[in-house]
Amino acid sequence: MRFRWRARLKGGPLMLAVILILLWTSAADTVKKRRGPKWWRIARISDPSNLISNHIKSNSLSDHYLDPAIHRILRKKQRRLVRENPGVLVAIAKGTRSAVHECKHQFRNRRWNCDPAPFNRSKELFGKIVSRACRETAFLYALTSAAVIHTVTRACTEGTIDSCNCDYRAKGPSGLDWEWGGCSDNIEFGHKFSRLFVDAGENRRDPRFPVNLHNNEVGRLHVKDQMRKECKCHGMSGSCTVKTCWWRLPYFRRVSDALKDRFDGASRVLLKNAGNARAPNDRRRNRRRKNRKKKKKKYYKLLKPYNQDHKPPTKKDLVYLEDSPDFCVRNRKLGIRGTSGRECNKTSIGVDGCDLMCCGREFHTRVVEVQERCSCTFQWCCEVKCKTCKYMKTIHICS
Ligand SMILES: *[C@@H]1O[C@H](CO)[C@@H](O)[C@H](O)[C@H]1NC(C)=O
Ligand SMILES: *[C@@H]1O[C@H](CO)[C@@H](O)[C@H](O)[C@H]1NC(C)=O
Repeated sequence: MRFRWRARLKGGPLMLAVILILLWTSAADTVKKRRGPKWWRIARISDPSNLISNHIKSNSLSDHYLDPAIHRILRKKQRRLVRENPGVLVAIAKGTRSAVHECKHQFRNRRWNCDPAPFNRSKELFGKIVSRACRETAFLYALTSAAVIHTVTRACTEGTIDSCNCDYRAKGPSGLDWEWGGCSDNIEFGHKFSRLFVDAGENRRDPRFPVNLHNNEVGRLHVKDQMRKECKCHGMSGSCTVKTCWWRLPYFRRVSDALKDRFDGASRVLLKNAGNARAPNDRRRNRRRKNRKKKKKKYYKLLKPYNQDHKPPTKKDLVYLEDSPDFCVRNRKLGIRGTSGRECNKTSIGVDGCDLMCCGREFHTRVVEVQERCSCTFQWCCEVKCKTCKYMKTIHICS
């Protein structure tokens, strides 16, 4: 009896340890699944132009060569797309960087300012906030996806991707005094490519799959729908007897402005029947692949408004599943630095105002010296000379 009792005592802590380890690994597993797309990390790779095309062009290595740094962060299908479209990697890298830039611009005056520091040693480009399916995450998916369609399309026009160039097909009817002509930005190629590449970064088994795919497409549509007509006059001494026009990409700032508006009006959704979003089994996969269009429609239908009085989201609305944290206090797990130390605007009643920015906490006031370029003059030729002016400025900082 005594012996058995002791054995049980010995086994107890062991069991507990096993259970704890199991719990810990399954928790780690869910965290792992909730990472942002790995391809976003291309932004951190210094110069991807050296990583693939040179090797392929010089034929020193096989076509299948891809730098290990890139290989690691791309999924199989994405690697194939990169190999089949030499030059595209540079465009994608530019896209991810302009997404970072635009995100910081759009959110510069908000509690969440798109700056993952001081947690920027994390592998996530935008910090750990993407582990939560909130508005900010929805915005990031749409913005990065929009950035890729934008830079890839631009690169086609510039001739830096081997597999695409300008779109010379005239589109739509011409007007009375103008006609289609010249080099249109190839948005069709950009759309097709970025849909394949960006959506391939998502995991079908992730319950958020339909939400992420929806937000990716929102980003692309905002680029596509803002394409503008650009024209040039011809004729004797600029008389403009003939005008030719082509399609030009919108400025990316305008796209990010529009996405920021969608952020403010984003819809919280529920997944109607998450079971449908599971990976199709092998037998059905081929059939499903053929019906890609049908499938897309189906994912879209999975999103149902959280509040049943609200209208279902449109194709251009951002959607999210969870409310955002308030971003007021430091939270290492979510990579939130809190608003302590942030500058606020004493006279504003908006989100940059001291009340909202400091979350009702105190703020202190400081007078700082600011340096600025001033009294600039143009010197023949061709230089602009400025003085440096110093002045005192009052700033307010959240405690
Ligand atoms: C992290 O952020 C700090 C401060 O913004 C910056 O100086 C540093 O270079 C960043 N490190 C990385 C790896 O981005
Ligand atoms: C502070 O907010 C006011 C009112 O919104 C605005 O007019 C002013 O330009 C802001 N100041 C700064 C430094 O942003």
